[in-house]
Amino acid sequence: MAKLLCSFYIITLLQLVQLVISKREIIPTPPLPVLPLPTFSQLKWQQRELIMFLHFGVNTFTDSEWGTGHENPAIFNPVELNTNQWVTVAAEAGISLMILTAKHHDGFCLWPSKYTNHSVIGSPWKNGHGDVVQEFVNAAKVGGVDAGIYLSPWDKHDRRYGQDLAYNEYYLAQLQELLNKYGSVREIWFDGAKGSNAPNMSYYFSDWFAMVNELQSSINIFSDAGPDVRWVGNEQGFAGDTCWSTINRTSLSIGNESIVEYLNTGDPRGTDWLPAECDVSIRPGWFWHKSESPKKLSELLEIYYNSVGRNCVLLLNVPPNSTGLISDIDAQRLREFRSAIDTIFSKNLAENCYIKVSSQRGGKGGGFGPENLLDSDHLWTYWAPRDEDGDDHWIEIWGKDEVLRFNVIRIQEAIGLGQRIKRHEIYVDHKQIIKGTTIGHKRLHRLDGGTVHGHVVRIRIRGSRGVPLISSIGLHFDPFWHPNFI
Ligand SMILES: *[C@@H]1O[C@H](CO)[C@@H](O)[C@H](O)[C@H]1NC(C)=O
Ligand SMILES: *[C@@H]1O[C@H](CO)[C@@H](O)[C@H](O)[C@H]1NC(C)=O
Ligand SMILES: *[C@@H]1O[C@H](CO)[C@@H](O)[C@H](O)[C@H]1NC(C)=O
Ligand SMILES: *[C@@H]1O[C@H](CO)[C@@H](O)[C@H](O)[C@H]1NC(C)=O
Ligand SMILES: *[C@@H]1O[C@H](CO)[C@@H](O)[C@H](O)[C@H]1NC(C)=O
Repeated sequence: MAKLLCSFYIITLLQLVQLVISKREIIPTPPLPVLPLPTFSQLKWQQRELIMFLHFGVNTFTDSEWGTGHENPAIFNPVELNTNQWVTVAAEAGISLMILTAKHHDGFCLWPSKYTNHSVIGSPWKNGHGDVVQEFVNAAKVGGVDAGIYLSPWDKHDRRYGQDLAYNEYYLAQLQELLNKYGSVREIWFDGAKGSNAPNMSYYFSDWFAMVNELQSSINIFSDAGPDVRWVGNEQGFAGDTCWSTINRTSLSIGNESIVEYLNTGDPRGTDWLPAECDVSIRPGWFWHKSESPKKLSELLEIYYNSVGRNCVLLLNVPPNSTGLISDIDAQRLREFRSAIDTIFSKNLAENCYIKVSSQRGGKGGGFGPENLLDSDHLWTYWAPRDEDGDDHWIEIWGKDEVLRFNVIRIQEAIGLGQRIKRHEIYVDHKQIIKGTTIGHKRLHRLDGGTVHGHVVRIRIRGSRGVPLISSIGLHFDPFWHPNFI
Protein backbone atom coordinates (compact mmCIF):
# COMPACT_ATOMS: atom_id res chain seq x y z
CA MET A 1 0.00 0.00 0.00
CA ALA A 2 2.80 2.43 0.92
CA LYS A 3 4.60 1.58 -2.29
CA LEU A 4 1.49 2.27 -4.35
CA LEU A 5 0.96 5.60 -2.64
CA CYS A 6 4.57 6.53 -3.25
CA SER A 7 4.38 5.88 -7.00
CA PHE A 8 1.12 7.83 -7.07
CA TYR A 9 2.90 10.84 -5.63
CA ILE A 10 5.77 10.49 -8.10
CA ILE A 11 3.36 10.49 -11.01
CA THR A 12 1.50 13.58 -9.84
CA LEU A 13 4.78 15.33 -9.11
CA LEU A 14 5.96 14.61 -12.66
CA GLN A 15 2.69 15.87 -14.06
CA LEU A 16 3.06 19.05 -12.06
CA VAL A 17 6.60 19.64 -13.35
CA GLN A 18 5.41 19.02 -16.88
CA LEU A 19 2.58 21.46 -16.46
CA VAL A 20 4.97 24.16 -15.25
CA ILE A 21 7.33 23.53 -18.18
CA SER A 22 4.58 23.57 -20.78
CA LYS A 23 3.19 26.79 -19.31
CA ARG A 24 6.60 28.37 -19.66
CA GLU A 25 7.39 26.92 -23.05
CA ILE A 26 7.13 29.30 -25.98
CA ILE A 27 6.56 27.75 -29.37
CA PRO A 28 9.42 28.84 -31.61
CA THR A 29 8.19 31.29 -34.26
CA PRO A 30 9.35 31.58 -37.87
CA PRO A 31 12.17 34.06 -38.41
CA LEU A 32 11.47 37.49 -39.87
CA PRO A 33 11.37 37.67 -43.66
CA VAL A 34 14.19 39.26 -45.63
CA LEU A 35 12.62 41.72 -48.09
CA PRO A 36 11.62 41.92 -50.88
CA LEU A 37 9.13 39.04 -50.93
CA PRO A 38 7.20 37.45 -53.80
CA THR A 39 3.51 38.23 -54.17
CA PHE A 40 0.98 35.39 -53.99
CA SER A 41 0.79 35.25 -57.82
CA GLN A 42 4.56 35.26 -58.20
CA LEU A 43 4.89 32.35 -55.78
CA LYS A 44 2.27 30.38 -57.73
CA TRP A 45 4.11 31.18 -60.95
CA GLN A 46 7.45 30.00 -59.55
CA GLN A 47 6.01 26.66 -58.51
CA ARG A 48 4.82 25.93 -62.04
CA GLU A 49 8.44 25.42 -63.18
CA LEU A 50 7.34 24.71 -66.78
CA ILE A 51 5.14 26.90 -68.97
CA MET A 52 4.31 26.34 -72.63
CA PHE A 53 4.48 29.07 -75.26
CA LEU A 54 2.54 28.57 -78.53
CA HIS A 55 3.63 30.66 -81.51
CA PHE A 56 0.88 30.36 -84.08
CA GLY A 57 -0.38 32.69 -86.81
CA VAL A 58 0.19 33.62 -90.45
CA ASN A 59 3.90 32.81 -90.14
CA THR A 60 2.92 29.17 -89.61
CA PHE A 61 1.70 29.21 -93.23
CA THR A 62 4.48 31.29 -94.82
CA ASP A 63 7.52 29.52 -93.38
CA SER A 64 8.69 32.72 -91.69
CA GLU A 65 9.56 33.99 -88.22
CA TRP A 66 8.74 37.66 -88.62
CA GLY A 67 5.87 38.33 -91.01
CA THR A 68 5.66 41.38 -93.24
CA GLY A 69 2.30 42.69 -92.06
CA HIS A 70 1.01 42.37 -95.63
CA GLU A 71 -0.07 38.74 -95.42
CA ASN A 72 -3.50 37.95 -96.80
CA PRO A 73 -5.66 36.62 -93.93
CA ALA A 74 -6.85 33.98 -96.41
CA ILE A 75 -3.59 32.06 -95.97
CA PHE A 76 -4.53 31.27 -92.37
CA ASN A 77 -6.36 27.97 -92.68
CA PRO A 78 -5.57 25.39 -90.00
CA VAL A 79 -8.13 22.90 -91.28
CA GLU A 80 -7.89 20.47 -88.38
CA LEU A 81 -7.18 22.92 -85.60
CA ASN A 82 -7.73 21.16 -82.29
CA THR A 83 -6.84 23.11 -79.18
CA ASN A 84 -7.79 20.12 -77.03
CA GLN A 85 -4.83 18.33 -78.53
CA TRP A 86 -2.54 21.25 -77.57
CA VAL A 87 -3.79 21.10 -74.00
CA THR A 88 -3.48 17.32 -73.79
CA VAL A 89 0.13 17.52 -74.96
CA ALA A 90 0.87 20.21 -72.36
CA ALA A 91 -0.91 18.45 -69.51
CA GLU A 92 0.91 15.19 -70.24
CA ALA A 93 4.18 17.11 -69.99
CA GLY A 94 3.21 18.40 -66.55
CA ILE A 95 2.65 21.95 -67.81
CA SER A 96 0.05 24.02 -65.95
CA LEU A 97 0.05 27.26 -67.98
CA MET A 98 0.02 27.85 -71.74
CA ILE A 99 0.64 31.22 -73.40
CA LEU A 100 -0.71 31.85 -76.91
CA THR A 101 0.47 34.52 -79.37
CA ALA A 102 -2.89 36.25 -79.86
CA LYS A 103 -1.08 38.66 -82.18
CA HIS A 104 2.53 38.56 -83.38
CA HIS A 105 4.57 41.34 -85.03
CA ASP A 106 2.71 40.85 -88.35
CA GLY A 107 -0.45 42.21 -86.71
CA PHE A 108 -2.71 39.26 -87.64
CA CYS A 109 -5.18 38.60 -84.80
CA LEU A 110 -6.17 35.08 -83.79
CA TRP A 111 -9.44 36.42 -82.42
CA PRO A 112 -12.14 38.47 -84.23
CA SER A 113 -11.10 41.88 -82.94
CA LYS A 114 -13.67 44.64 -83.37
CA TYR A 115 -10.87 47.09 -84.21
CA THR A 116 -9.31 45.48 -87.29
CA ASN A 117 -10.21 43.14 -90.12
CA HIS A 118 -6.69 41.74 -90.20
CA SER A 119 -7.72 38.66 -88.29
CA VAL A 120 -9.45 35.28 -88.41
CA ILE A 121 -12.48 37.18 -89.80
CA GLY A 122 -10.77 37.24 -93.19
CA SER A 123 -9.73 33.61 -93.09
CA PRO A 124 -11.44 30.65 -94.82
CA TRP A 125 -11.05 28.74 -91.55
CA LYS A 126 -14.61 28.25 -90.24
CA ASN A 127 -15.71 30.71 -92.95
CA GLY A 128 -14.36 33.63 -90.99
CA HIS A 129 -16.39 32.72 -87.90
CA GLY A 130 -13.55 31.06 -86.00
CA ASP A 131 -11.83 32.33 -82.85
CA VAL A 132 -8.58 30.61 -81.92
CA VAL A 133 -8.28 32.47 -78.62
CA GLN A 134 -11.76 31.29 -77.58
CA GLU A 135 -11.04 27.69 -78.55
CA PHE A 136 -7.73 27.89 -76.72
CA VAL A 137 -9.21 29.16 -73.44
CA ASN A 138 -12.12 26.69 -73.68
CA ALA A 139 -9.76 23.74 -74.11
CA ALA A 140 -7.49 24.98 -71.33
CA LYS A 141 -10.45 25.20 -68.97
CA VAL A 142 -11.61 21.68 -69.79
CA GLY A 143 -8.05 20.34 -69.46
CA GLY A 144 -7.43 22.06 -66.13
CA VAL A 145 -4.58 24.16 -67.50
CA ASP A 146 -4.29 27.95 -67.08
CA ALA A 147 -4.19 30.35 -70.02
CA GLY A 148 -1.88 33.24 -70.87
CA ILE A 149 -1.70 35.73 -73.73
CA TYR A 150 0.97 37.41 -75.81
CA LEU A 151 -0.02 40.57 -77.67
CA SER A 152 2.88 41.94 -79.68
CA PRO A 153 3.49 45.65 -79.14
CA TRP A 154 5.24 45.92 -82.49
CA ASP A 155 2.58 45.77 -85.24
CA LYS A 156 3.76 45.80 -88.85
CA HIS A 157 0.24 45.81 -90.25
CA ASP A 158 -1.70 48.51 -88.50
CA ARG A 159 -1.33 51.96 -90.07
CA ARG A 160 -1.57 53.62 -86.67
CA TYR A 161 1.79 52.14 -85.66
CA GLY A 162 4.17 55.09 -85.32
CA GLN A 163 1.44 57.50 -84.15
CA ASP A 164 1.82 57.39 -80.40
CA LEU A 165 -1.69 58.28 -79.28
CA ALA A 166 -3.65 56.43 -81.96
CA TYR A 167 -1.64 53.21 -81.71
CA ASN A 168 -1.60 53.14 -77.91
CA GLU A 169 -5.37 53.52 -77.95
CA TYR A 170 -5.65 50.68 -80.46
CA TYR A 171 -3.36 48.49 -78.37
CA LEU A 172 -5.30 49.25 -75.18
CA ALA A 173 -8.58 48.51 -76.96
CA GLN A 174 -7.27 45.07 -77.92
CA LEU A 175 -5.99 44.45 -74.40
CA GLN A 176 -9.48 45.17 -73.10
CA GLU A 177 -11.01 42.71 -75.58
CA LEU A 178 -8.57 39.97 -74.59
CA LEU A 179 -8.70 40.50 -70.85
CA ASN A 180 -12.44 41.09 -70.59
CA LYS A 181 -13.94 38.37 -72.74
CA TYR A 182 -11.88 35.25 -72.32
CA GLY A 183 -12.00 34.52 -68.60
CA SER A 184 -9.06 34.31 -66.28
CA VAL A 185 -5.63 35.03 -67.79
CA ARG A 186 -2.64 34.13 -65.61
CA GLU A 187 0.24 35.63 -67.51
CA ILE A 188 0.55 38.34 -70.13
CA TRP A 189 3.69 38.77 -72.17
CA PHE A 190 5.07 42.06 -73.46
CA ASP A 191 8.34 42.39 -75.33
CA GLY A 192 10.43 45.08 -76.91
CA ALA A 193 11.18 43.16 -80.13
CA LYS A 194 11.18 45.49 -83.10
CA GLY A 195 12.93 45.73 -86.48
CA SER A 196 15.61 48.35 -86.93
CA ASN A 197 13.58 50.12 -89.64
CA ALA A 198 10.34 50.19 -87.69
CA PRO A 199 8.79 53.64 -87.11
CA ASN A 200 9.65 55.33 -83.84
CA MET A 201 6.95 54.77 -81.31
CA SER A 202 6.59 55.11 -77.55
CA TYR A 203 4.55 52.52 -75.81
CA TYR A 204 2.44 53.72 -72.88
CA PHE A 205 3.52 50.86 -70.66
CA SER A 206 2.17 52.45 -67.47
CA ASP A 207 -1.31 52.67 -68.99
CA TRP A 208 -1.09 49.11 -70.31
CA PHE A 209 0.04 47.62 -66.99
CA ALA A 210 -2.58 49.55 -65.02
CA MET A 211 -5.29 48.30 -67.39
CA VAL A 212 -4.06 44.70 -67.13
CA ASN A 213 -4.14 44.79 -63.34
CA GLU A 214 -7.58 46.35 -63.38
CA LEU A 215 -9.04 43.62 -65.58
CA GLN A 216 -7.31 40.53 -64.14
CA SER A 217 -6.71 39.93 -60.45
CA SER A 218 -4.24 37.04 -60.46
CA ILE A 219 -2.19 37.82 -63.53
CA ASN A 220 1.59 38.11 -63.78
CA ILE A 221 2.91 40.69 -66.21
CA PHE A 222 6.05 39.63 -68.04
CA SER A 223 8.39 42.04 -69.79
CA ASP A 224 12.13 42.78 -69.86
CA ALA A 225 11.44 44.94 -66.85
CA GLY A 226 8.54 43.18 -65.13
CA PRO A 227 6.61 44.33 -63.10
CA ASP A 228 5.96 40.70 -62.04
CA VAL A 229 8.25 38.49 -64.10
CA ARG A 230 11.43 39.56 -65.89
CA TRP A 231 13.15 38.31 -69.02
CA VAL A 232 16.30 36.26 -68.40
CA GLY A 233 18.23 38.20 -71.04
CA ASN A 234 18.61 35.54 -73.78
CA GLU A 235 16.51 33.13 -75.84
CA GLN A 236 18.62 30.03 -75.13
CA GLY A 237 16.76 29.26 -71.91
CA PHE A 238 19.84 29.74 -69.71
CA ALA A 239 19.82 31.69 -66.47
CA GLY A 240 23.01 32.97 -64.87
CA ASP A 241 25.01 30.61 -62.68
CA THR A 242 24.19 33.21 -60.06
CA CYS A 243 20.52 34.08 -60.28
CA TRP A 244 18.70 36.34 -57.86
CA SER A 245 14.94 36.82 -58.04
CA THR A 246 15.63 40.30 -56.72
CA ILE A 247 16.67 43.26 -58.89
CA ASN A 248 16.24 47.04 -59.05
CA ARG A 249 13.34 47.80 -61.38
CA THR A 250 14.48 51.38 -61.67
CA SER A 251 17.62 50.15 -63.53
CA LEU A 252 15.53 48.28 -66.12
CA SER A 253 13.92 49.39 -69.35
CA ILE A 254 12.13 47.41 -72.04
CA GLY A 255 14.10 46.61 -75.20
CA ASN A 256 17.44 47.81 -73.74
CA GLU A 257 20.36 45.59 -74.88
CA SER A 258 22.74 46.92 -72.27
CA ILE A 259 20.90 45.30 -69.35
CA VAL A 260 20.90 41.67 -70.47
CA GLU A 261 23.70 40.69 -68.10
CA TYR A 262 21.94 42.32 -65.14
CA LEU A 263 18.70 40.52 -66.10
CA ASN A 264 20.57 37.22 -66.28
CA THR A 265 21.96 37.35 -62.73
CA GLY A 266 19.64 39.69 -60.82
CA ASP A 267 20.90 41.70 -57.87
CA PRO A 268 21.49 40.57 -54.25
CA ARG A 269 20.72 44.15 -53.18
CA GLY A 270 17.71 44.46 -55.48
CA THR A 271 14.72 46.21 -53.98
CA ASP A 272 12.12 44.38 -56.14
CA TRP A 273 11.06 40.76 -56.31
CA LEU A 274 11.16 40.14 -60.04
CA PRO A 275 12.08 36.52 -60.87
CA ALA A 276 13.34 35.53 -64.32
CA GLU A 277 11.56 33.46 -66.98
CA CYS A 278 13.69 31.56 -69.52
CA ASP A 279 12.06 31.51 -72.95
CA VAL A 280 13.34 29.09 -75.56
CA SER A 281 11.79 27.13 -78.41
CA ILE A 282 11.70 23.35 -78.65
CA ARG A 283 12.67 23.90 -82.31
CA PRO A 284 15.22 26.29 -83.87
CA GLY A 285 12.42 28.75 -84.80
CA TRP A 286 9.54 30.11 -82.75
CA PHE A 287 6.99 29.29 -85.47
CA TRP A 288 6.50 25.88 -87.04
CA HIS A 289 8.54 25.13 -90.17
CA LYS A 290 8.25 21.92 -92.12
CA SER A 291 12.04 21.63 -92.37
CA GLU A 292 12.72 21.90 -88.63
CA SER A 293 12.67 19.28 -85.91
CA PRO A 294 12.61 19.44 -82.12
CA LYS A 295 15.67 19.54 -79.89
CA LYS A 296 17.08 16.27 -78.56
CA LEU A 297 16.15 15.09 -75.08
CA SER A 298 19.70 15.81 -73.85
CA GLU A 299 19.39 19.42 -75.03
CA LEU A 300 16.04 19.85 -73.27
CA LEU A 301 17.51 18.45 -70.06
CA GLU A 302 20.48 20.80 -70.36
CA ILE A 303 18.00 23.68 -70.63
CA TYR A 304 16.03 22.37 -67.65
CA TYR A 305 19.11 22.25 -65.40
CA ASN A 306 20.09 25.76 -66.50
CA SER A 307 16.66 27.32 -66.02
CA VAL A 308 14.50 25.50 -63.46
CA GLY A 309 17.75 24.33 -61.83
CA ARG A 310 18.88 27.93 -61.50
CA ASN A 311 15.88 29.42 -59.73
CA CYS A 312 13.87 30.24 -62.88
CA VAL A 313 10.75 29.12 -64.72
CA LEU A 314 11.20 27.57 -68.16
CA LEU A 315 8.90 28.92 -70.86
CA LEU A 316 9.19 26.33 -73.60
CA ASN A 317 7.74 27.18 -77.00
CA VAL A 318 5.96 24.35 -78.85
CA PRO A 319 4.57 25.70 -82.13
CA PRO A 320 1.41 24.15 -83.63
CA ASN A 321 1.79 23.23 -87.31
CA SER A 322 -0.22 24.42 -90.31
CA THR A 323 -2.81 21.69 -89.79
CA GLY A 324 -3.51 23.32 -86.41
CA LEU A 325 -1.96 20.56 -84.32
CA ILE A 326 1.21 20.07 -82.34
CA SER A 327 3.31 17.71 -84.45
CA ASP A 328 3.60 14.17 -83.14
CA ILE A 329 7.37 14.38 -83.06
CA ASP A 330 7.23 17.39 -80.68
CA ALA A 331 4.55 15.77 -78.53
CA GLN A 332 6.66 12.64 -78.31
CA ARG A 333 9.78 14.63 -77.32
CA LEU A 334 7.80 16.40 -74.60
CA ARG A 335 6.59 13.07 -73.21
CA GLU A 336 10.21 11.85 -73.11
CA PHE A 337 11.23 15.08 -71.38
CA ARG A 338 8.57 14.71 -68.68
CA SER A 339 9.31 11.06 -68.20
CA ALA A 340 13.05 11.82 -67.83
CA ILE A 341 12.38 14.53 -65.21
CA ASP A 342 10.14 12.11 -63.29
CA THR A 343 12.71 9.33 -63.50
CA ILE A 344 15.47 11.58 -62.16
CA PHE A 345 13.57 13.26 -59.35
CA SER A 346 11.03 10.69 -58.18
CA LYS A 347 13.73 8.94 -56.17
CA ASN A 348 15.59 10.90 -53.50
CA LEU A 349 18.53 8.96 -52.05
CA ALA A 350 18.69 11.36 -49.11
CA GLU A 351 15.37 9.94 -47.87
CA ASN A 352 17.08 6.84 -46.50
CA CYS A 353 19.85 8.83 -44.89
CA TYR A 354 20.58 10.26 -41.49
CA ILE A 355 20.58 14.07 -41.60
CA LYS A 356 22.74 16.14 -39.24
CA VAL A 357 22.66 19.94 -39.07
CA SER A 358 24.89 22.62 -37.52
CA SER A 359 22.05 23.81 -35.27
CA GLN A 360 18.30 24.25 -35.35
CA ARG A 361 16.06 27.12 -34.42
CA GLY A 362 14.14 26.49 -31.21
CA GLY A 363 16.03 23.24 -30.55
CA LYS A 364 14.79 19.69 -31.15
CA GLY A 365 11.05 19.51 -31.69
CA GLY A 366 10.95 23.26 -32.32
CA GLY A 367 9.52 22.82 -35.80
CA PHE A 368 12.60 23.90 -37.77
CA GLY A 369 14.58 20.67 -37.78
CA PRO A 370 16.17 18.64 -40.57
CA GLU A 371 13.02 16.50 -40.98
CA ASN A 372 11.60 19.44 -42.97
CA LEU A 373 14.28 18.95 -45.61
CA LEU A 374 12.78 15.65 -46.70
CA ASP A 375 9.03 16.23 -46.46
CA SER A 376 6.85 16.98 -49.47
CA ASP A 377 6.38 20.68 -48.67
CA HIS A 378 9.05 22.64 -50.53
CA LEU A 379 7.99 26.05 -49.34
CA TRP A 380 6.55 26.49 -45.86
CA THR A 381 8.34 23.80 -43.88
CA TYR A 382 12.07 24.33 -43.72
CA TRP A 383 15.21 23.83 -41.72
CA ALA A 384 16.40 26.98 -39.94
CA PRO A 385 19.63 27.22 -37.97
CA ARG A 386 19.85 29.28 -34.77
CA ASP A 387 20.15 33.02 -35.35
CA GLU A 388 23.28 33.38 -33.30
CA ASP A 389 25.42 30.86 -35.15
CA GLY A 390 27.35 33.27 -37.33
CA ASP A 391 27.99 32.59 -40.95
CA ASP A 392 28.79 28.90 -41.09
CA HIS A 393 25.75 26.67 -41.34
CA TRP A 394 25.74 23.16 -42.66
CA ILE A 395 23.71 20.06 -43.39
CA GLU A 396 25.23 16.58 -43.51
CA ILE A 397 23.63 13.66 -45.29
CA TRP A 398 24.92 10.32 -44.00
CA GLY A 399 24.28 7.17 -45.97
CA LYS A 400 23.20 4.55 -43.42
CA ASP A 401 25.10 1.45 -44.43
CA GLU A 402 25.14 2.01 -48.14
CA VAL A 403 27.42 4.00 -50.39
CA LEU A 404 25.57 6.95 -51.90
CA ARG A 405 25.73 6.99 -55.68
CA PHE A 406 24.38 10.13 -57.36
CA ASN A 407 25.12 12.76 -60.00
CA VAL A 408 22.57 15.47 -59.16
CA ILE A 409 22.20 17.52 -55.97
CA ARG A 410 19.03 19.50 -55.37
CA ILE A 411 18.72 22.33 -52.83
CA GLN A 412 15.64 24.53 -52.34
CA GLU A 413 15.27 27.69 -50.30
CA ALA A 414 12.11 28.69 -48.45
CA ILE A 415 11.65 31.69 -50.75
CA GLY A 416 8.36 32.65 -49.09
CA LEU A 417 10.62 34.41 -46.56
CA GLY A 418 12.93 35.93 -49.18
CA GLN A 419 15.88 34.75 -51.23
CA ARG A 420 18.88 34.65 -48.93
CA ILE A 421 21.76 32.36 -49.80
CA LYS A 422 24.72 33.99 -51.55
CA ARG A 423 27.35 31.27 -51.41
CA HIS A 424 27.38 27.56 -50.74
CA GLU A 425 29.75 24.64 -51.04
CA ILE A 426 29.24 20.92 -51.28
CA TYR A 427 31.64 18.25 -50.05
CA VAL A 428 31.56 14.49 -50.51
CA ASP A 429 33.61 12.62 -47.89
CA HIS A 430 35.42 15.91 -47.11
CA LYS A 431 36.35 16.58 -50.73
CA GLN A 432 34.85 19.76 -52.17
CA ILE A 433 32.89 19.10 -55.35
CA ILE A 434 30.84 22.30 -55.72
CA LYS A 435 31.55 25.95 -55.05
CA GLY A 436 28.24 27.64 -55.76
CA THR A 437 26.45 30.92 -55.26
CA THR A 438 22.67 31.45 -55.21
CA ILE A 439 20.03 28.76 -54.59
CA GLY A 440 16.55 30.32 -54.66
CA HIS A 441 13.44 28.25 -55.31
CA LYS A 442 15.46 25.36 -56.75
CA ARG A 443 19.13 24.81 -57.40
CA LEU A 444 20.21 21.72 -59.29
CA HIS A 445 23.85 20.78 -59.52
CA ARG A 446 24.36 18.16 -62.18
CA LEU A 447 27.89 16.96 -61.58
CA ASP A 448 30.30 17.68 -64.45
CA GLY A 449 32.56 14.88 -63.28
CA GLY A 450 29.76 12.32 -63.57
CA THR A 451 28.57 9.96 -60.86
CA VAL A 452 29.94 10.34 -57.34
CA HIS A 453 30.21 7.62 -54.71
CA GLY A 454 30.46 8.57 -51.05
CA HIS A 455 29.27 8.15 -47.50
CA VAL A 456 28.75 11.73 -46.33
CA VAL A 457 27.55 14.74 -48.28
CA ARG A 458 27.98 18.11 -46.59
CA ILE A 459 26.20 21.25 -47.80
CA ARG A 460 27.82 24.36 -46.32
CA ILE A 461 26.20 27.78 -46.49
CA ARG A 462 28.99 30.33 -46.57
CA GLY A 463 27.10 33.56 -47.05
CA SER A 464 23.49 34.57 -46.62
CA ARG A 465 21.22 37.59 -46.21
CA GLY A 466 19.97 36.73 -42.73
CA VAL A 467 19.85 33.09 -41.62
CA PRO A 468 19.52 30.60 -44.48
CA LEU A 469 16.20 28.71 -44.65
CA ILE A 470 16.26 25.48 -46.61
CA SER A 471 13.02 23.78 -47.51
CA SER A 472 14.20 20.69 -49.37
CA ILE A 473 17.30 18.76 -50.39
CA GLY A 474 17.80 15.78 -52.64
CA LEU A 475 20.45 13.45 -53.98
CA HIS A 476 19.39 12.08 -57.34
CA PHE A 477 20.67 9.88 -60.09
CA ASP A 478 20.24 11.09 -63.67
CA PRO A 479 20.70 8.09 -65.98
CA PHE A 480 20.56 10.37 -69.04
CA TRP A 481 23.67 12.30 -68.01
CA HIS A 482 26.87 11.27 -69.77
CA PRO A 483 29.26 14.21 -69.35
CA ASN A 484 31.95 12.52 -71.44
CA PHE A 485 29.74 12.45 -74.51
CA ILE A 486 28.77 16.14 -74.51
C1 LIG B 1 -14.13 45.42 -91.79
O1 LIG B 1 -14.68 45.19 -93.02
C2 LIG B 1 -16.08 45.54 -93.11
C3 LIG B 1 -16.61 45.11 -94.47
O2 LIG B 1 -15.79 45.57 -95.49
C4 LIG B 1 -16.23 47.02 -92.85
O3 LIG B 1 -17.60 47.36 -92.86
C5 LIG B 1 -15.63 47.35 -91.49
O4 LIG B 1 -15.67 48.74 -91.27
C6 LIG B 1 -14.21 46.86 -91.38
N1 LIG B 1 -13.75 47.02 -90.00
C7 LIG B 1 -12.58 47.58 -89.68
C8 LIG B 1 -12.28 47.65 -88.23
O5 LIG B 1 -11.79 47.98 -90.49
C1 LIG C 1 13.84 57.36 -84.90
O1 LIG C 1 14.41 58.38 -84.10
C2 LIG C 1 15.80 58.44 -84.15
C3 LIG C 1 16.29 59.49 -83.17
O2 LIG C 1 15.28 60.36 -82.81
C4 LIG C 1 16.25 58.75 -85.59
O3 LIG C 1 17.66 58.77 -85.67
C5 LIG C 1 15.71 57.65 -86.51
O4 LIG C 1 16.01 57.95 -87.85
C6 LIG C 1 14.21 57.51 -86.35
N1 LIG C 1 13.77 56.33 -87.12
C7 LIG C 1 12.71 56.33 -87.92
C8 LIG C 1 12.43 55.05 -88.64
O5 LIG C 1 12.00 57.30 -88.04
C1 LIG D 1 19.68 51.17 -70.90
O1 LIG D 1 20.18 50.76 -69.65
C2 LIG D 1 21.31 51.47 -69.21
C3 LIG D 1 21.81 50.80 -67.94
O2 LIG D 1 20.79 50.75 -66.97
C4 LIG D 1 20.93 52.94 -69.01
O3 LIG D 1 22.07 53.67 -68.62
C5 LIG D 1 20.36 53.50 -70.31
O4 LIG D 1 19.88 54.80 -70.08
C6 LIG D 1 19.22 52.61 -70.80
N1 LIG D 1 18.78 53.07 -72.10
C7 LIG D 1 17.50 53.32 -72.38
C8 LIG D 1 17.22 53.72 -73.79
O5 LIG D 1 16.61 53.24 -71.55
C1 LIG E 1 19.99 48.40 -56.13
O1 LIG E 1 19.41 49.22 -55.13
C2 LIG E 1 20.02 49.10 -53.86
C3 LIG E 1 19.21 49.92 -52.86
O2 LIG E 1 19.05 51.21 -53.33
C4 LIG E 1 21.48 49.54 -53.94
O3 LIG E 1 22.10 49.36 -52.70
C5 LIG E 1 22.18 48.72 -55.01
O4 LIG E 1 23.51 49.16 -55.16
C6 LIG E 1 21.44 48.80 -56.32
N1 LIG E 1 22.08 47.91 -57.28
C7 LIG E 1 22.72 48.36 -58.36
C8 LIG E 1 23.34 47.34 -59.25
O5 LIG E 1 22.80 49.53 -58.61
C1 LIG F 1 0.66 18.39 -87.92
O1 LIG F 1 0.73 17.42 -86.87
C2 LIG F 1 -0.22 16.39 -86.96
C3 LIG F 1 -0.04 15.52 -85.73
O2 LIG F 1 1.24 14.98 -85.74
C4 LIG F 1 -0.02 15.63 -88.25
O3 LIG F 1 -1.05 14.66 -88.36
C5 LIG F 1 -0.09 16.58 -89.43
O4 LIG F 1 0.21 15.90 -90.62
C6 LIG F 1 0.90 17.70 -89.25
N1 LIG F 1 0.77 18.67 -90.30
C7 LIG F 1 1.77 19.02 -91.09
C8 LIG F 1 1.48 20.04 -92.14
O5 LIG F 1 2.88 18.53 -90.99
